[in-house]
Amino acid sequence: MSAARGGRRVLDGIDLSLADGEVTALLGPSGSGKSSLLRLLNRLADPDEGTVRFHGEDVRGLDPLDLRRRAVLVPQLPAPLPGTVAENLSFGPRLAGRDVPEVVRCLARSGLGDEYAERDASRLSVGEGQRVMLARALALEPEALLLDEPTSALDDDAREGIERTLGEIGLPMVLVTHDRAQAARLAGRIVEIEKGRLA
Ligand SMILES: Nc1ncnc2c1ncn2[C@@H]1O[C@H](COP(=O)(O)OP(=O)(O)OP(=O)(O)O)[C@@H](O)[C@H]1O
Ligand SMILES: [Mg+2]
Repeated sequence: MSAARGGRRVLDGIDLSLADGEVTALLGPSGSGKSSLLRLLNRLADPDEGTVRFHGEDVRGLDPLDLRRRAVLVPQLPAPLPGTVAENLSFGPRLAGRDVPEVVRCLARSGLGDEYAERDASRLSVGEGQRVMLARALALEPEALLLDEPTSALDDDAREGIERTLGEIGLPMVLVTHDRAQAARLAGRIVEIEKGRLA
């Protein structure tokens, strides 16, 4: 599989299968293509050569919104919707016609107290925002998580809390991280990427 961004090839000949239930850590230098690869997995972009499959199905045959609820991407930088934290957590499930999620429980799993529920989601620190984005992902009850450096802005205590949650929820995950120790703690498999190719 290969993909370009801005007219330049950023992923080249990537051939990767992720086993069901597996946590895969994706490591590599800055600019090597980690975030670009995650974006292909839930169709924020499509490869220009090759196919991405989810449970064996070509993702181009799936409804992108449905796919993004099943394999939820937690972006490298928080990108909250306008409104409160609780509204941010409820928006996706409501769009999907589901019940309002248990906001406080999702926040707790993300290491945030219930006092965050009514905070303006656009007025949070980056680390708080990262945890809100994870809580928002969990509120969708996903089948898989695509985590782009989910603890890069967190202190050790907050990071440990997130790692505990990720360990407990037992979902298949692709975890982009610069932290080798974190990769070793959480992932059954470590994949390295360099200049858009698997190393
Ligand atoms: N919006 C964009 N338009 C054009 N090129 C981009 C864009 N975003 C990223 N790139 C380029 O694509 C390549 C891969 O970027 P990507 O964001 O996937 O790297 P990364 O491995 O996630 O890096 P980091 O560890 O810094 O997050 C880089 O060369 C980058 O400059
Ligand atoms: Mg990145």
